[in-house]
Amino acid sequence: LTHFHPKQEFLGKKVLITSGPTQEALDPVRFISNHSSGKMGAALADSFASQGAEVHLILGKGAKKPQHASIQIHSVTSAAEMYEAAANLHPQADIAVFAAAVADYAPKHVAEEKIKKAGEAMTIELVKNVDIAYSLGKEKRHHQIHVGFALETENEEFHAKEKLGKKNFDLIVLNSMREEGAGFQKDTNKVRIFSEDGSEANSEVLPKEKIAGLILERIKKLPVKI
Ligand code: CTP
Ligand code: CA
Repeated sequence: LTHFHPKQEFLGKKVLITSGPTQEALDPVRFISNHSSGKMGAALADSFASQGAEVHLILGKGAKKPQHASIQIHSVTSAAEMYEAAANLHPQADIAVFAAAVADYAPKHVAEEKIKKAGEAMTIELVKNVDIAYSLGKEKRHHQIHVGFALETENEEFHAKEKLGKKNFDLIVLNSMREEGAGFQKDTNKVRIFSEDGSEANSEVLPKEKIAGLILERIKKLPVKI
């Protein structure tokens, strides 16, 4: 065998993935954002697609694009746009994975013209963005599977499990902050995956493609929802 053909275990499944950073405009030339690379989301999209799923990837600006030609990409900029795209696709989705690093707050006012430099200090008023995973978690129907991510710097397990419950996830993937080979811009990651039923899986430092494979394995182990 010269080619590896993964089993088509997600054949016919519709998968929605949010990925990458959001950008929240301040004026026509400036925005608030974060260092998310979208590498984990791209790896997940490719894993699902290679196992037969119909993948819709909602992608923030500058986020890594997947390889698989069948993946449908929906490009967005702000959290509000990401929410709109996700909410439109969600009713049809069998699986939703919230891998995006959504900005928690956005400038209250977006200036129409470039903001001019003025005094020695300035204050920007921010307002909370919609929580995409939480909002769609409330809409989740019985057959749908939701997977979330968490990155914490203290009380990691407690905060991750709290988010699992609050956002109605079936699984949450906790990114390790303490490891050399784990993080936002890296090609590798080390994770703990907590299930809604209390079980847990841990990984070594692995390429994000392998981490994606592990996440798919955990999804397959979830009780069948009919
Ligand atoms: N998330 C989302 N929409 C937001 C914020 C977060 O969909 N506005 C999703 C993320 O994609 C991730 C999960 O929620 O799957 C947890 O994100 P995180 O930033 O860790 O959680 P927050 O609820 O924003 O809490 P905090 O940043 O205060 O830790
Ligand atoms: Ca957040």
